[in-house]
Amino acid sequence: MTPITTVTAAVTVTTLFLLLTTTTTLSTDISALKAIKSSINPTTIPSYSCLASWNFTSDPCSNPHITHFLCGLSCSNNRVTQLTFDRPGYSGTLSPLVSQLTQLITLDLSDNKLSGPIPTSLFSLPNLITLDLRNNLFSGTIPPVISNLKSIETLDISHNSISGSLPDMSNSLTLTRLDLSFNKFTGPIPKVAKNLMELAIKSNFLSGGVLKTSFSELTRLEVVEVSNNSLTGTIPGWFFLLPGLQQVNLANNGFTGIEILKPIESDLVAVDVGYNKLVGYLSGNFTAYPMLSSLSLRYNKLQGPIPEEYTRTTTLRRLFLDGNYLNGMPPKEFFSGKSSVTGSLGDNCLKSCPTSSQLCLKSQKSSSICRQAYGGKVRQKL
Ligand SMILES: *[C@@H]1O[C@H](CO)[C@@H](O)[C@H](O)[C@H]1NC(C)=O
Ligand SMILES: *[C@@H]1O[C@H](CO)[C@@H](O)[C@H](O)[C@H]1NC(C)=O
Ligand SMILES: *[C@@H]1O[C@H](CO)[C@@H](O)[C@H](O)[C@H]1NC(C)=O
Repeated sequence: MTPITTVTAAVTVTTLFLLLTTTTTLSTDISALKAIKSSINPTTIPSYSCLASWNFTSDPCSNPHITHFLCGLSCSNNRVTQLTFDRPGYSGTLSPLVSQLTQLITLDLSDNKLSGPIPTSLFSLPNLITLDLRNNLFSGTIPPVISNLKSIETLDISHNSISGSLPDMSNSLTLTRLDLSFNKFTGPIPKVAKNLMELAIKSNFLSGGVLKTSFSELTRLEVVEVSNNSLTGTIPGWFFLLPGLQQVNLANNGFTGIEILKPIESDLVAVDVGYNKLVGYLSGNFTAYPMLSSLSLRYNKLQGPIPEEYTRTTTLRRLFLDGNYLNGMPPKEFFSGKSSVTGSLGDNCLKSCPTSSQLCLKSQKSSSICRQAYGGKVRQKL
């Protein structure tokens, strides 16, 4: 290149640079970003990380980002709309000044080591659609004002140490996905937001039952993950009839009964009620669910025979009934070679379960345990 063209190129680049840098970030957004960065322990900000590039001698929202503000945030014009941290393991707290970012749509600080309470001011952000604080060390409780999040669609605070009762989001018409699993929540399941599609609250210390007041008017709920809590009582029949329901996991609770009504139509694909305390006879009614492909009732206290209906469904692929007190002969069709059902019928009180079938690989209970379970004689009806 001749010196002339070099100069022309340099002038062009400078002009472009000036054009692109005309927006300057709103000052309250800048002070919020400064507070957010200074609440992070500097020894946990490695040189390669997004936060290391947050150098306030440059304007955060101005392009191009060549050395400063390389990642961790996005802007629209002069406002910050997304904070999406990378995951080097930042520790520290979340500054309450985050609430100054009033145009924030996405806040994703997942998979770091942030601790302390989730600042209450966060819940006043009117445009926040996605809040993802998954897998950090946040503690404290969630105040009722969380229901002020007017635009929230996805709320994930799973894998933290939050205690107290579950937040009541029942007034939210926007919330579709709620994950509060793996925390320390106690108390009952509150009324569920009307348009929720996915409810995940597994591995907490929740108690109480599955109540109509919590689950009424839900028409879009597809996934319910409530395993590994302390829920009790009878699982009511209407629950499995919720329209749209596809996947239900109630395993590892203290349920003592289950009612299964025949649906008119149903999208239910998978049901897991293993590791509870269900007593009574095994109902054949689950086979009336036309899409059901996976059913686990393992490790309960079910008695009586396995209804023949379980061999007549064409959709059922996985059936786990092991670890109960089921008795009699298992239906022969399971072993006919035509059956496509896998799973286990082991650890029951079944007679002549052919060990040539993988369904029977786990051996049956000893006859003394079975006699004891049936009060010394085979009971007819409960
Ligand atoms: C921020 O950027 C300026 C100018 O590029 C530089 O002199 C300074 O050392 C940077 N500060 C930090 C903390 O990296
Ligand atoms: C069940 O929940 C407890 C408490 O949250 C947790 O420590 C444990 O790992 C969970 N177990 C499973 C199998 O998820
Ligand atoms: C099976 O379903 C029918 C019709 O919904 C119901 O009346 C009956 O009580 C159910 N049986 C069991 C054992 O749950």
